[in-house]
Amino acid sequence: MPSKQPEFRRYLVPIDSLSTQQFFTDCLVIGSGIAGLRAAIEAAGCGASVTLVCKGTLADSNTWNAQGGIAAVVRNEDSIESHIADTMATGAGLCEPEVVRQVVSEGPALIRELLDWGTEFDKTNGILDATLEGGHSHPRVIHSHGDSTGRGIAEGLLRKLRSMPQIRILEHFFAIDLLTNDDNECLGVIGHRAGNSLQIIWAARTILATGGAGRLYRETTNPENATGDGLAMAYRAGAVLRDLEFMQFHPTTLYIAGASRALITETLRGEGAILRDRDGNAFMKDYHPDAELAPRDVVSRAILDRMLKTNSTHVYLDIRHFDKEHFRKRFPVISELCESFDIDISREMIPVRPSAHYLIGGVKVDRNAASNIANLYVCGEAASTGLHGANRLGSNSLLEGLVYGRIAGRHAAEGLKRPRTYLRPKRIEFQIAHSDRSHLDTDDVRNSLRALMWRNVGITRRETPLVEAQEIIRFWQRYVMDKVFDTPFGWECQNMLTLALLMARAAEERKESRGVHFRQDYPAPDNDRFLKHIELSR
Ligand code: FUM
Repeated sequence: MPSKQPEFRRYLVPIDSLSTQQFFTDCLVIGSGIAGLRAAIEAAGCGASVTLVCKGTLADSNTWNAQGGIAAVVRNEDSIESHIADTMATGAGLCEPEVVRQVVSEGPALIRELLDWGTEFDKTNGILDATLEGGHSHPRVIHSHGDSTGRGIAEGLLRKLRSMPQIRILEHFFAIDLLTNDDNECLGVIGHRAGNSLQIIWAARTILATGGAGRLYRETTNPENATGDGLAMAYRAGAVLRDLEFMQFHPTTLYIAGASRALITETLRGEGAILRDRDGNAFMKDYHPDAELAPRDVVSRAILDRMLKTNSTHVYLDIRHFDKEHFRKRFPVISELCESFDIDISREMIPVRPSAHYLIGGVKVDRNAASNIANLYVCGEAASTGLHGANRLGSNSLLEGLVYGRIAGRHAAEGLKRPRTYLRPKRIEFQIAHSDRSHLDTDDVRNSLRALMWRNVGITRRETPLVEAQEIIRFWQRYVMDKVFDTPFGWECQNMLTLALLMARAAEERKESRGVHFRQDYPAPDNDRFLKHIELSR
C-alpha cells in the first residue's frame, strides 16, 4: 500500500522482490568498521556463510581514522574495577553496569587476539605502551603505529577476514532498507551496488554495523559516509532507537577555514599538549581541576566559551615544547597533517575547535546485541548497548566495537539450520505513489541541514532553537521524503533528515543537562525526571 505520509514511508524505494536480482547468505554484515569486521569473523568462525557489505571501500570507516587508541586494562598497576569505575563515572548515571563490566572484562583477551592476528600495538621493551585520555585514571589507551591505531586494527582484522573463504565482501554496496515481514522479522536488505540496479540480499541474520552520523553536522571529525543510514533504516523497519540526544563533540579538530576538518587526537593532551586562547592564555584550569584532561564535554564547552570571550573562531593546541623527532614518530598522521598546512609545531600552535565526533545513542540492543526486530543484531556506533551512558570515555568505543562485534557475530550464527531452507526469496511488494510536490536541491538541503544541526542541536542547546530545528526539518522532509531517488546521495539525504529530526526531538525532550547533552535553559541534571533513557520508535 502506498503511504499517504511520505515522511513515514516504510521503504525508500518501490520493491518487487521476486523480480529483483537476489543473493542469499546466512549472515549479512553491513559495515566495515571494527564491529562489522569482528562480527563477520566470529560468525564465519561459527560456521555461517557471511556476506559483508559496505557503502564505500573497506577503508571508509570511522575505525580506519581512529587515532588515539583503544582502551583496555593492560598494565599491572591498572585494574578492571578502575576501568569500570571511570566508565560509570563519566556516563553520568545512564551506564548499564552489567554491560560496562562485560565490555571492560572481555577487553584484554580480545586485545591479545588482535595481537595474534597481526595488529602491531606499540610497545617499549616488549610491554604495551599505554597513554591517558580524559576521565581515565590510569594510562590504558593503547595504540598502533602511533596515531594510526584504527587503521592498524582494521588491517589486522582484514587479514584475518580474508583468510576465511566463507566470507564474501561487497564494497560500494549501499544498503537502502532492511526487509521485514509482518512477524517483525528481518529478512535481509535491499540495496544498490555501484554500476548495477537494485539487489536484494536475503539473510537468515542481519548484523547492522553501519557506524555513526557525524556528517549531520557542519563541523565533524567523521568521514563523508557517516550519514546515519543504518539508524534511519532501522527506524523505518521498526527498531527502537535510544539516547539520540547524546552526540559527543570532540574538543580538538583542526580548524583552518576552507580546509576539511581533521581529528587532533586527545592523546596529545594526554601527553602534555596545552590548550591556549588567541592571547596565549592556558585557560582549562579556569574550567576544571583536571584542565586539559577534563571530560570531553567540559573541554568542548570551555573552548566554545573561550572562543566567545576572545571573539575568535578557534583556540590553539600548544605542543611547541614536544620533542619534534619524538612527535614525528609518536604522531605520524598529525605530523604529516601539520606539515601539509605548513604548521611548524616547534614554533607554531595548532588551530583547533570542537566538532561532532561520536553518536552515543543508536539502536537499542540487549546483551546478545539483539534488537527488538527478530534476526537483526546491531553493534558498534550504530548500537546503543548502554556502555557509554550519557558520556563516552575516550577510546572505549573501539573496545565496545570489538566486544559487541564478537557477541553479535556469535549470536547471529547460532541456531542456523541445515539444509538452509530458510534462505528462500519472499514476496515483498511496495509501491510509492508519484508526488507532484516541488523538488528541492538535495545538495543544498544537506548543507543547510548540517548548518542547522550545528547551530540549533549543537554543543549547547535551548528549547526554542530545538523546536525550530524540528519545524525546519519537517518542512524539508515534505519535499524530500516524498521522492524516489536512484543514487546514494539522495537516499543519504532522506536518512539524514530522518535521523536529524529524531535527534532534535530527543534533545528537546531531555529538559536537563547530563553528560554530553547540555541545555542552557536547564543547566543541571534532573534525576527525578530524567535518570532514564529516551527511546524513539515508529
Ligand atoms: O582523540 C581521539 O583520539 C579520539 C578517541 C576516541 O574518540 O575514542
